Amino acid sequence: MKNQNNLHPVFDKILNRPDKEKLLKQHSRVIWLTGLSGSGKTTVGRQVEMELNKRGYLTQVLDGDNIRTGINNNLGFTEADRYENIRRIAEVSKLFMNCGIICINSFISPTRRIRHMAMGVIGKENFIEVYINAPLEVCESRDVKGLYQKAREGKIKNFTGIDAPFEAPLNPDIELKTAELTVEESAKKALKFILPIIEYNSK
Ligand code: ADX
Repeated sequence: MKNQNNLHPVFDKILNRPDKEKLLKQHSRVIWLTGLSGSGKTTVGRQVEMELNKRGYLTQVLDGDNIRTGINNNLGFTEADRYENIRRIAEVSKLFMNCGIICINSFISPTRRIRHMAMGVIGKENFIEVYINAPLEVCESRDVKGLYQKAREGKIKNFTGIDAPFEAPLNPDIELKTAELTVEESAKKALKFILPIIEYNSK
């Protein structure tokens, strides 16, 4: 009994999202970058992170490097696995966001259904959709990881843009044409939209 009584005051002191946002002097959001493999999601995401960090904002980048090798290392690229991939990512992002941290996610997230699900988990008001738009030919010619060639040779199945769909967002908050802009220009355009939203206003 005594222990139970002691529990309550502890919970009174636990900080909630607004308290943590105040502590960090920022408003947390999830910045969601969607686009083809090789379109520049991770590169732009990292650049945006760097620019935010320079201005004192605390961020967390989630991408294939830290998610598909860890928490989601049991998932492949069927539609069902991609859905589960994105569902877990959305839940993890929500945890960061509720901790006051700005989460920057770089995932193909190829269909409107998948992105809509992610937005539902995170909350429409917290979700900033960024379309990293580069034509398939450009992504394929870059072929940073050599995967497009393998997909063309039939060595990889369900490859986005080759034998699996990519549905462009209909109404993204930000669209970055990475074949026309430099990484710095893309980041600058994104920041113009993002900074006023995350700026902490103590009023
Ligand atoms: S998503 O569709 O579930 O959102 P995610 O962004 O996590 O995909 O992973 C995409 C990355 O996985 C690609 O950039 C590429 O390096 C690698 N990959 C391996 N197989 C595939 C595939 N069949 N389709 C797309 N990307 C693949």
